[in-house]
Amino acid sequence: MPVISTILSTGSYLPERIVTNADLEKIVDTTDEWIHQRSGIRERHFAAENETTSDMALKAAQKALESANISAESLDGIIVATTTPDQTFPSVATKVQAALGVPICVAFDVQAVCTGFVYALSVADNFIKAGQLKRVLVIGAEKMSSILNWEDRTTCVLFGDGAGAMILEAKEGKSGSERTGIFSTHLYADGKLRDLLYTDGGPATTGQSGHIVMQGREVFKYAVTFMAGAVNDALAANNVSAQEIDWLVPHQANIRIIEATAKKLDMPIERVILTVEKHGNTSAASIPLAFDEGVRSGRIKRGNLVLMEAMGGGITWGSALARF
Ligand code: ACO
Repeated sequence: MPVISTILSTGSYLPERIVTNADLEKIVDTTDEWIHQRSGIRERHFAAENETTSDMALKAAQKALESANISAESLDGIIVATTTPDQTFPSVATKVQAALGVPICVAFDVQAVCTGFVYALSVADNFIKAGQLKRVLVIGAEKMSSILNWEDRTTCVLFGDGAGAMILEAKEGKSGSERTGIFSTHLYADGKLRDLLYTDGGPATTGQSGHIVMQGREVFKYAVTFMAGAVNDALAANNVSAQEIDWLVPHQANIRIIEATAKKLDMPIERVILTVEKHGNTSAASIPLAFDEGVRSGRIKRGNLVLMEAMGGGITWGSALARF
């Protein structure tokens, strides 16, 4: 029997400070009505000034370890998806490793912006399938508030901070209705579209991290097409129909993009885990945050078929299908 990756547990963390649309009205020329109508967002969490991405990643990881009832020492891999690392280097993953007290292991970051978690999950899954790792902590963690341009009202109202984690473990694969774990991942990128969404800085250009620049309307158009494509590829590759999916856990960028994707799948919105209203767009953290919320609220249950999909800067996009 081939080796597969099963999902042992999930965990998440949101910073204490909640910033509502009404709070933003005081500092940006905007309204709660505009933000909610265009994006579905009502509020987001912002990290404290001295709270870093690795601090948030660590807290999400601790929750996942607690849920799985395993020790940090038993991990042999840590992969963190982030666009907002504490420092240019070392990676957030190595900081989490040290803070958790994990002995020498594989640890690195993956950068695919909002698609980062799907990319990281895919990397972890392939390491496990190749027999190289047995128990991998996969994290999506972002301090998006650190790269917002407060002079640009079209972007600064959309993002939030947070972290989500998932622990994957190698198991002997089963077939048919007994099949569990990650069924497949599909990853894509089209660098020709990189100018639609980027930061206007970086270590090798300005020497600063820069701020988000986005052509929202263009990104929106591609998002619906690309995500529907990635979702269809996941279904086709596994010979699964949309009706068999228990939960859609999409990247939480915009309620209108999520609704359009659900509609293309003919999936009622009641079967979609939605956090965008309360979290805003937390980039690579959004899928594991939503997944964990689905699990902890009792909606995502063991045995459920869950479809994840995302799209972000690059442009990158992708999907992952798993039985929890
Ligand atoms: N408050 C009030 N008015 C605003 C605001 C604001 N915060 N921002 C823009 N407006 C105004 C604009 O000035 C414009 O006014 P005008 O018509 O007088 O010129 C009007 O609202 C419409 O602006 P648009 O940008 O065309 O608004 P749109 O309906 O496209 O919504 C949004 C904008 C929410 C950004 C949408 O395009 C979107 O969600 N795009 C996709 C975002 C996404 O999915 N990103 C991918 C992931 S992010 C990542 O990878 C980091």
